[in-house]
Amino acid sequence: MANMPSSIVLVGAGKMGGAMLQGWLSLGLNGASATVIDPYPSAELNALAARHGVRINPPEGSVSAPEVVLLAIKPQTLDAAAPDIGKLVGPDTLVVSIMAGKTIANIASRIPSARAVVRAMPNTPAAVGRGITGAAASAAVTPAQRETAAALLSAIGRFEWVPTEDLIDAVTAVSGSGPAYVFLLAECMAKAGVAAGLPPDLAERLARATVEGAGELMWRDATTGPAQLRKNVTSPGGTTAAALDVLMGPDGLEPLMTRAIAAAKQRGRDLSG
Ligand SMILES: NC(=O)c1ccc[n+]([C@@H]2O[C@H](COP(=O)([O-])OP(=O)(O)OC[C@H]3O[C@@H](n4cnc5c(N)ncnc54)[C@H](OP(=O)(O)O)[C@@H]3O)[C@@H](O)[C@H]2O)c1
Repeated sequence: MANMPSSIVLVGAGKMGGAMLQGWLSLGLNGASATVIDPYPSAELNALAARHGVRINPPEGSVSAPEVVLLAIKPQTLDAAAPDIGKLVGPDTLVVSIMAGKTIANIASRIPSARAVVRAMPNTPAAVGRGITGAAASAAVTPAQRETAAALLSAIGRFEWVPTEDLIDAVTAVSGSGPAYVFLLAECMAKAGVAAGLPPDLAERLARATVEGAGELMWRDATTGPAQLRKNVTSPGGTTAAALDVLMGPDGLEPLMTRAIAAAKQRGRDLSG
């Protein structure tokens, strides 16, 4: 695949890091160009690495200054891991972080050798290749490094650059935390279905399949916006229109979602450091 790095070290191969490695390998990354550092690699990861010739936990000092170091450890483990990561990072190494809440300045202060840093925020549908990742780059990141970062992060779904790092809190609030809002929507639809007389298990299956199917329609038809897709299924005076009159009223979903996302953005800002 174009723009894949010639050498990459993945630090932390849990849920997110493991999904990314799988994505890179399925897109054609040469396993021999990848190294994984993770204290307790899962059996699944060991098997994947063995199949593709990916090195896991090589002796200290045997890998240095790769083209990319991708940090997929938990944010709270950064302080402990930083000295070892610092030894890996060379002057031309691109550091890509998916750690929630860790700013570019914070990463650079913990890892002084890190100059070119991309801070990215993926979301959990990455586990099935349907994530969306928003990212911001430090001033030292070159155009070629931006393309490499975009290629790596696109392996778990869609990818978007944001113009300034402060917008990462808004990305977190919309798409990072967003899957939970959609799950809640399915929960609420199921509960409302029960209130309308359906048995609970049937209401849940109907709500769940509706969210799955509507999501799939949006995914497949990326050129038609959600507002148009909604209009396409709303006949004037019909049943959908009756529900939308409630959902789109003054106390409807939009003001509620605006408040919810503002709260998540503020929380992200409070937790950043
Ligand atoms: N999951 C999400 O939806 C999501 C969304 C956006 C961003 N993120 C970010 O993605 C990052 C990873 O999340 P995750 O859900 O994949 O977490 P995870 O499953 O816990 O993965 C983290 C991995 O890093 C390993 N690790 C711990 N200390 C390490 C060290 N010093 N060197 C190398 N590896 C080390 C952990 O090993 P042990 O398990 O043995 O400790 C674990 O395998 C987090 O920073 C999170 O903020 C996650």
